[in-house]
Amino acid sequence: MLSKRLQSLTKYFNKEDNVIDIGCDHALIDIYMVKYNLVNKMIVSDIHEGALKQGINNIKLNHLKDVIECRLGDGLNVLTDDDKIDTILISGMGASTIIDILNNKYINNINKLVIQSNNDYEKLRRYITSIGFIITNEEYFIDNGKKYINIIFERGTKEYTDIEYQFGPILINNKEYIQSEIDSRVKIISSIPSDKESLRLTLNNEIKMLSELISR
Ligand SMILES: C[S@@+](CC[C@H](N)C(=O)[O-])C[C@H]1O[C@@H](n2cnc3c(N)ncnc32)[C@H](O)[C@@H]1O
Repeated sequence: MLSKRLQSLTKYFNKEDNVIDIGCDHALIDIYMVKYNLVNKMIVSDIHEGALKQGINNIKLNHLKDVIECRLGDGLNVLTDDDKIDTILISGMGASTIIDILNNKYINNINKLVIQSNNDYEKLRRYITSIGFIITNEEYFIDNGKKYINIIFERGTKEYTDIEYQFGPILINNKEYIQSEIDSRVKIISSIPSDKESLRLTLNNEIKMLSELISR
């Protein structure tokens, strides 16, 4: 049984996809997707030997060692020209690491990115759309009391507004998500020291703007 967090990602793949999961660790989602025939090809990779070993063990336990390729190394550098990978899955990493990984020649072969970052979605949206992708889906949910966002990027060009970069062109219409953004700002304001007036002002302005979004 996959966690709600990992399960949420599986619906963004299809049978034609040739996928690399970068930072696979336990490789649980990859095993699931291959087992249920959701993708055409799957390579899993991790920069840390211990993490990859865990994945390899799980893959062996599921009798999939001849189907899922496992590679040790940094990001897209584990690929070769023969791999013909067109889809990237990255989950559980910070935005800066994700951007470092995508800054690689093999990005030119990629048609789709399925991303579940730990932070800084605005930075990710700005970077990934600047290298020839558009945002085709976004999802907000809570699993085990923790908030998650999935963003799907596919090939294309499109201009986004600052608000769309910050809160997501699809998520700005999601009232539950916008309310959670308001709630987190209200919480921060309640604990700001009195000498941080400018931060209070910024957060209050954002709350006002978010409240307008929610009441549209
Ligand atoms: C928190 S785990 C997430 C595992 C899994 N993707 C998930 O969502 O449950 C992050 C993994 O990314 C790996 N990692 C970090 N930087 C990496 C890089 N540049 N290339 C490949 N793997 C990396 C780490 O070793 C770690 O196993």
